Amino acid sequence: MLPIFLAIGLAPLLVSAQLSGSVGPTTSYADKASNKICNVLDYGAVADKSTDVGPAISSAWDECKDGGVVYIPSGDYALESWVTLTGGSSCAINIDGILYRTGTDGGNMIFIEHTTDFELFSSTSEGAVQGYGYEFHVDGSLSGPRILRLYEVVDFSVHDLALVDSPAFHFSLDTCENGEVYNMIVRGGNSGGLDGIDVWSTNIWVHDVEVTNKDECVTVKSPAQNILVESIYCNWSGGCAMGSLGSDTNISDITYRNVYTWSSNQMYMIKSNGGSGTVANLLLENFIGHGNAYSLDIDQAWSSMSTLEGDGVQLNNITINNWKGTEQKGSQRGPIKVNCAEDVPCTEITIDDFAMWTEEGSYQWYGCENAYGEGACLHSGDEYTSYTTTTTVSVAPSGYSAPTMPSDLSTGFATDSSIPIPTIPTSFYPGLTPISALASASATATAKST
Ligand SMILES: *[C@@H]1O[C@H](CO)[C@@H](O)[C@H](O)[C@H]1NC(C)=O
Ligand SMILES: *[C@@H]1O[C@H](CO)[C@@H](O)[C@H](O)[C@H]1NC(C)=O
Ligand SMILES: *[C@@H]1O[C@H](CO)[C@@H](O)[C@H](O)[C@H]1NC(C)=O
Repeated sequence: MLPIFLAIGLAPLLVSAQLSGSVGPTTSYADKASNKICNVLDYGAVADKSTDVGPAISSAWDECKDGGVVYIPSGDYALESWVTLTGGSSCAINIDGILYRTGTDGGNMIFIEHTTDFELFSSTSEGAVQGYGYEFHVDGSLSGPRILRLYEVVDFSVHDLALVDSPAFHFSLDTCENGEVYNMIVRGGNSGGLDGIDVWSTNIWVHDVEVTNKDECVTVKSPAQNILVESIYCNWSGGCAMGSLGSDTNISDITYRNVYTWSSNQMYMIKSNGGSGTVANLLLENFIGHGNAYSLDIDQAWSSMSTLEGDGVQLNNITINNWKGTEQKGSQRGPIKVNCAEDVPCTEITIDDFAMWTEEGSYQWYGCENAYGEGACLHSGDEYTSYTTTTTVSVAPSGYSAPTMPSDLSTGFATDSSIPIPTIPTSFYPGLTPISALASASATATAKST
């Protein structure tokens, strides 16, 4: 008899109006496991950290992808040849072991495509992929593989995994639908080009994720619709962002909330330079930041990308609400920067309940350019004439003080030595615990032993 909580686990998860329907696999892990389990040890895998586990994963996948579970028991495995797992439905991959990169090709170490009703996770919350990216980075090279990429995967979840020291990006969601990503930790080197989680997809809920690196934390790219990102801990990172945006940008209905950003490049950035298309209906609420260079940073003339054809991307209906904390040096990089394109001004922008203050010096600035709406230095009305305003703020806004996380990282991880595999934390935002308990703490974990 199935305990009641398993039945509840199958109820459609309609979490917020920002999502457009249920997310996650449609069949429970227990049902998949009772159908069939393909243990990689039965397909040639050896947990000796030297035998290539790639072919065993591929064979197990072929046997179980049409209804079952690929099981990688705890132990240390070498991943020398990358796996491309195609098709399949009503299947799961349970990685309780640790996969150590030993191969050196580019591409994606694990690539999953055209799969439906799919779950990728660790039932012990101890599964990890160790990318040993430092072996590339020590020579200044970013030419190694990415760790994980999902392409056209529908009705899925990825959770309870640690992705560590990727040679390139850690995790990309490309053109997927109805997905949930949660209880994850990404720990990369202190360098650009090592993105945490990049999403360009439809109807995706990303929550309870910690990222350390020096590039994207959790970032939305185009095209994307109905994305909810919440309880995110950027623990020494580049910070969360949108972009970079180019031609025919098509992004709408995106919410980020409960985002804690520590010692990153920014708390949230929208980046473009020329280009076309639209971003509409974006809500950024309940952000706490400390020690970041930029805070709110909308930059449509971003100097780190070359100017693209087009007058600019139209940004419309963006609400920034309840931001608290401190920035590094507000006289140099003020906590509000909304620079919009002259020919395509930003419209319906609202900045409300925004209280950030500088850690260094006695004043900070707010800068607005061609941006219309309410709050801070934004111009109101619908007469869109080009303007630039910089407001100097010399009194700390009341209520700016905000909690820190107990163990913020005090330096980034080196790019010339191995990064230890972390455990998945149990809080990703001050005062909040994960929306779903870690898999290790939940009863479904026992299903693996069936
Ligand atoms: C934007 O993407 C949505 C969802 O795929 C699509 O329905 C819509 O037509 C696209 N809009 C444009 C202008 O391409
Ligand atoms: C503006 O965006 C918010 C989400 O921030 C959404 O709830 C609202 O419906 C949008 N307004 C319009 C007119 O589309
Ligand atoms: C932030 O990262 C540092 C370095 O790994 C770690 O010691 C610390 O525990 C992290 N903070 C949390 C709350 O996970």
